[in-house]
Amino acid sequence: MTNNIAGKVIIVTGASSGMGAAAARHLAGHGASIVLAARRTDRIEGIVDDITGSGGQAIAVETDVTRLEDMQRLAKAAIDAFGRIDVLMNNAGLMPLSPLERLKVDEWNQMIDVNLRGVLHGIAAVLPHMQERKSGHIITTASVAAYKVFPASAVYSATKFALRGLTEGLRQEVKPYNIRTTLISPGAVTTELLDHISEADVQSANQDYVGKVGIPAESFARMVAFAVSQPDDVDVNEIVFRPTAQEL
Ligand SMILES: NC(=O)c1ccc[n+]([C@@H]2O[C@H](COP(=O)([O-])OP(=O)(O)OC[C@H]3O[C@@H](n4cnc5c(N)ncnc54)[C@H](OP(=O)(O)O)[C@@H]3O)[C@@H](O)[C@H]2O)c1
Repeated sequence: MTNNIAGKVIIVTGASSGMGAAAARHLAGHGASIVLAARRTDRIEGIVDDITGSGGQAIAVETDVTRLEDMQRLAKAAIDAFGRIDVLMNNAGLMPLSPLERLKVDEWNQMIDVNLRGVLHGIAAVLPHMQERKSGHIITTASVAAYKVFPASAVYSATKFALRGLTEGLRQEVKPYNIRTTLISPGAVTTELLDHISEADVQSANQDYVGKVGIPAESFARMVAFAVSQPDDVDVNEIVFRPTAQEL
């Protein structure tokens, strides 16, 4: 892999567990300076200790992506610590799946707030800085659910479908500023994502499935590294990957 990663300043949201944590560790291993963002500060501080303990550079910033001011504070913390932002990895997300007829309206709103509004807040927080520098890369975690709807996924899929539209619009608009955009859509990856499904029957069906076919979070980290590591004139716009065993 061409290393266009070393020395880059990379913000990762949802860095406290699963794919965000794996991406943060992997990119730090390739020499990037990482700004880890999440609400669980004990988790992100622990990862910072691991990274800095092995000679890497990282800081942790408590962030709730549903709050624009938190995302703006996060961007400022990255610039204060490392001088600039090269990559924003918009990765925080929730998947409390349920059939629509169960009317879990609070969970619908939470998914819209984190999965969609959180990404918009990320874009708002870094875009002026990247435009001014005429350089940058905004990566967003969508899902295979951005292409397919499966039982109980209507609202989750709606938020992830929306990210496809958003990222394509962003791609077109930021061309004059030399900014790259990448949408990464994983299939079943073994993380904590299913822990927050409140409907027991939906949770156990998904746990059974992901337990059978799920692949490790490092698979996602390698996709992120692939996109970031391309030469500056190469813009990887979409990556869809699944476990080889996944049908959907
Ligand atoms: N695992 C899969 O099979 C799969 C497949 C396709 C797409 N995805 C997507 O991948 C992304 C990462 O999920 P994961 O699978 O790694 O699950 P995970 O282990 O549950 O990680 C989710 C991350 O999102 C963060 N988060 C949630 N709400 C937040 C908020 N309001 N503000 C800031 N951070 C918040 C969590 O941090 P805190 O709780 O500490 O804030 C955590 O770090 C999500 O966007 C998910 O939709 C996952």
